[in-house]
Amino acid sequence: MTIQFSDNATTDRLRGEIAEVLTGARARTLALTDCLDDAELAAQHSRLMSPLVWDLAHIGNQEELWLIRDVGGRAAVRGDIDELYDAFKHARVARPELPLLDPAQARGYVGSVRDEVLDVLARTRLHGNPLVEGGFAFGMIAQHEQQHDETMLATHQLRTGPAVLAAPPPPAARVAVRGEVIVPAGEFVMGTSTDPWALDNERPAHPVHVPGFAIDAAPVTNGEYLAFIADGGYERPELWSPRGWRHRTEAGLVAPQFWERDGAGTWWRRAFGTPTPLRPRQPVVHVCFFEAEAYASWAGKRLPTEAEWEKAARFDPETETTRRYPWGDADPGTAQANLGQRHLEPADVGAYPAGASSAGVHQLIGDVWEWTSSGFEPYPGFRAFPYAEYSDVFFGGDYRVLRGGSFGTDPVACRGTFRNWDHPIRRQIFSGFRLARDLRAGEGR
Ligand code: AVJ
Ligand code: FE
Repeated sequence: MTIQFSDNATTDRLRGEIAEVLTGARARTLALTDCLDDAELAAQHSRLMSPLVWDLAHIGNQEELWLIRDVGGRAAVRGDIDELYDAFKHARVARPELPLLDPAQARGYVGSVRDEVLDVLARTRLHGNPLVEGGFAFGMIAQHEQQHDETMLATHQLRTGPAVLAAPPPPAARVAVRGEVIVPAGEFVMGTSTDPWALDNERPAHPVHVPGFAIDAAPVTNGEYLAFIADGGYERPELWSPRGWRHRTEAGLVAPQFWERDGAGTWWRRAFGTPTPLRPRQPVVHVCFFEAEAYASWAGKRLPTEAEWEKAARFDPETETTRRYPWGDADPGTAQANLGQRHLEPADVGAYPAGASSAGVHQLIGDVWEWTSSGFEPYPGFRAFPYAEYSDVFFGGDYRVLRGGSFGTDPVACRGTFRNWDHPIRRQIFSGFRLARDLRAGEGR
């Protein structure tokens, strides 16, 4: 009886946590959509992005498919719109022409779905079935909404017109962070088999031997990137890969996306509609993989592999264990990382000493997604779960992995194992990078 009682108490606490996460994600979704009129919600602000009203109803449709129909075993709320909101049926560029729900209908739809989901949650045993073990399907759908909240934030950044979003500035630097940290050769456990809400591509945990490497204590900053531009970085093909140089030429790249130069030659960046002076100690954002690669070659270094990045973020040399975050296993708080759209820009290097790894690598989590040199591939023993369209169909494609999350990423959708990926030419995402290098003879002993 005691076991039964404590089991129910645990389940009730988990239900409460799930409801809170779902409610938090929805508050963000509505903040990103209630601030624009119907015409702006239905408009396509960039060919790379969906109309915001598509994201909104797609969030509700995924939630109804998985939590009402699959987990709940209940009838459809709207059985007639699945095809419209299936991301694989219509390219983003074609979505504005679809007979989408209008903003009022979409708001009503996501609200009805959510009401029923909370009822399903109250009646579902959160164990015994792999789909809901530890609340997994609810966590997956919460993270799906949070990922679209970041996508919608990127749409806001692409939108022209008067600013509609505001947030307090991130904290100022508290410590000086410079140089690099040496990670000696050795095995660590990459990925996870135990994190209840980890998505399929983060699984399973597996040992990886990583040769010794050095990694920068901080991401590359605007000031450092300006020096690359000033030194002719965009005009020197020898710094770029052949494919990168071709893209740089065809796309006419001269600086990160959203940077503008005034008559006096000073660079500014446009952030959510507001022209903003470049902060020299702020991590650079809105660069593509090819720009990151060219900068690295200019600096005489390289991008980290995905395994190097994860080892720097999770392996604690003192205890020789792999942890969830650089600082340990505790969830990210406001002192550890710039996440969750609390601030709408990266924080200066040195602003999060409490989020550093024990070896002294800072701001791995939050601020900017960090490009790695690795393609998006399954871990040994990978199983698509619960659907192939989240990860499996993207493996082996023309993608590079990004790690660590950005200021736009929810803390629940971010951890040391979390894997993001995009095409190497993309830079409308909140992407930056940090540098790594091989060890020289005698280093790392
Ligand atoms: C993991 C960010 C690459 O946006 O394409 C959203 C997340 N998957 N809906 C994407 C996702 C399905 C995905 N990324
Ligand atoms: Fe989606």
